[in-house]
Amino acid sequence: MTKKLLIASRIERIEHLSAQVKRFSVRPVHRPTFPDTTPGSHVLVRHKNGLLRSYSLCGGTEDPGLYQFAVLRETDGKGGSVAFHDNTAEGDSIHVSYPTASLPLHPEANSHVFIAGGIGVTPFVPLALAAQQRGHSATLHYAVRTASAAAFKPTLQAIPRLAMELYASDQNQRLDVAAVVSGLAPEQHLYVCGPPRLLDAAGKAAQAAGLNGRVHLESFSGLDAAEANSGDPFTAYLSLSKRTVDVPANKSLLQALRSSGSGLDVDSSCEGGVCGACRVTLLGGDAVHRDICLTPREREQNIITCVSRGKGTITLHL
Ligand code: FES
Repeated sequence: MTKKLLIASRIERIEHLSAQVKRFSVRPVHRPTFPDTTPGSHVLVRHKNGLLRSYSLCGGTEDPGLYQFAVLRETDGKGGSVAFHDNTAEGDSIHVSYPTASLPLHPEANSHVFIAGGIGVTPFVPLALAAQQRGHSATLHYAVRTASAAAFKPTLQAIPRLAMELYASDQNQRLDVAAVVSGLAPEQHLYVCGPPRLLDAAGKAAQAAGLNGRVHLESFSGLDAAEANSGDPFTAYLSLSKRTVDVPANKSLLQALRSSGSGLDVDSSCEGGVCGACRVTLLGGDAVHRDICLTPREREQNIITCVSRGKGTITLHL
């Protein structure tokens, strides 16, 4: 994703929702409104220090000039969350991408069950609001480590007709993912967002119950570094610069492009195939897609360089 696709914005408000979660409200600087969003969308956000991160939008759609996202402070993360928590103030400049609808309500469903793990709850605020506006029924299962970490509980409780079950590990309340999945009514769709263990459990339960088409997962991690940076060697031909870059077995395409000496500046954020920041146009060749952010259609003409690879030679619009 290139810098010109980012919208210059300003942080209007920062709220502490819990000890570890802050909610940021931002407005565009040079335009009256942001692009329309589909509930369940995420955006890439570039911090003033240059770090690019992916966050789900967690506000309603009634004010088109306002985007909201929330950040969990993770001291053992890659530095983005700490920068947002410790080095960000109201009034700061920030850049925000166009939104991507990563976890939309299924168009044929009118009854929805949501499972959220921790900060994975954020997309369910706009999704629950959208369900309510459409007159659909919605139930949220919200799992947190401690009751005090349920940062979005008051926001969610204010949404009419949303049924919410809270599970706090410190109070020995356990979410039984398999039971939720197997208990889905025929007309219901399930949406899950949270850490890999939660998604894995939901995916396996959905497969066992034959419900794959009605279970929608959103991860915020993706491949780990060891998986992302390995695979069969291949070659990338760069059509604009007319260069060839060899990608060895122990490097990702993104790493090979950056170390090729070609001066290429490919953005990245999660480096696990989740956020889409490192997407590059694919012009030809056999790609081995390993991301979890592109649709099958998008994969025909794009490749996620931090995790995906090629067979033989692939051609990139670089
Ligand atoms: S950097 Fe996030 S998908 Fe590649």
